[in-house]
Amino acid sequence: MLVTKPQNNFEPIHAMLMQSFNAKAIMSAVELKIFDLLDGSVREASSLADEMEVSIERLEPLLNVLVAADLVVKENDGYRNTPCASEFLVSSAPLYQGDSMRLTMRFNAMVEDNITELVRGGEVNMRKTDQDWGVDEGIEGTAQDAMGGPLSPVIDFTASLPGFVDFKVMGDIGGNHGMYTMGMLERNTNMHGVIFDLPPVAEKSQARCDRFGFGDRVTTQGINFLKDHLPAGEFDLILTSHVLYIFKEDLVGALERIAEGLKPGGWYVSQHYSGYAKPGYEMAKASVELLTRLCGYSSHFIEQEELTGILKNLGFEDIRCQPVSETGLGLMIAARKAV
Ligand SMILES: C[S@@+](CC[C@H](N)C(=O)[O-])C[C@H]1O[C@@H](n2cnc3c(N)ncnc32)[C@H](O)[C@@H]1O
Repeated sequence: MLVTKPQNNFEPIHAMLMQSFNAKAIMSAVELKIFDLLDGSVREASSLADEMEVSIERLEPLLNVLVAADLVVKENDGYRNTPCASEFLVSSAPLYQGDSMRLTMRFNAMVEDNITELVRGGEVNMRKTDQDWGVDEGIEGTAQDAMGGPLSPVIDFTASLPGFVDFKVMGDIGGNHGMYTMGMLERNTNMHGVIFDLPPVAEKSQARCDRFGFGDRVTTQGINFLKDHLPAGEFDLILTSHVLYIFKEDLVGALERIAEGLKPGGWYVSQHYSGYAKPGYEMAKASVELLTRLCGYSSHFIEQEELTGILKNLGFEDIRCQPVSETGLGLMIAARKAV
């Protein structure tokens, strides 16, 4: 028989493939600054097309993808941003995510066109990935990502630790854009910050902190924390935000070096993904883990029990754990080095 009657529905699989197309359409809408043009006003497609000097036949279906994605609302007299689009997709907004989105798309593209090969044992060029951390757009994208999500809760969590106002020196391993360090220094004006990162990144971190007016309160040091040590007994606070997974193959060794850097009674704070085996956010967890493993890391997730167990064995006390938000995969852990 030439014609076989389908027994199942293939449409959900096709819809999943189209999600990749839709993501790129949203990215293009950001690049075309459509959300800037729809901010604070309702615009007809024809007037928008005229201002953008594009054809309405091509613009209108793009606007309708944005409507279907709940980023734009279609009303009788035209289109307007949703509050979420105004907060994150307008280029002048304080929490603009355009560079962060471009960074995610670029990083994904490096992997997604080669998944078959990578699953079969191919390797991602990690030297290029490490270099990307020091590229300006990468730094700005990573900063935007932090600002749009974990930065504010991590700073609140850390600033509420006992004795925070008396901390004098903090270290930020893999501190990159410096937003965590500068945010902490804003909350404790007597504290100095040291950002540790790969040497080319550390240089850029210093320039960025200088630009934000923190030049005299932030120093940076190029290191490879896979093997290098921090100055011993120097820090009241050491932070690792989305960094610990890089050192997962020898987590105990990395945490020993962190303990070594802390003063007695100093605090360690980590922010990272956790809860891989817990129910919820299945596609988000599965895709971030696939991406991470195809890039050659052992996992992006560090479970609360594993980390608190190691910290206890290393003599840390007063361990506190809190989710970064009610939704999502982020976990914050703080622990105090024994006096
Ligand atoms: C995912 S980013 C996290 C940036 C920032 N902490 C945040 O949460 O937004 C990882 C950072 O770790 C740095 N890094 C990667 N490998 C490193 C290594 N071996 N030693 C020190 N830093 C490293 C990268 O350069 C990058 O700045």
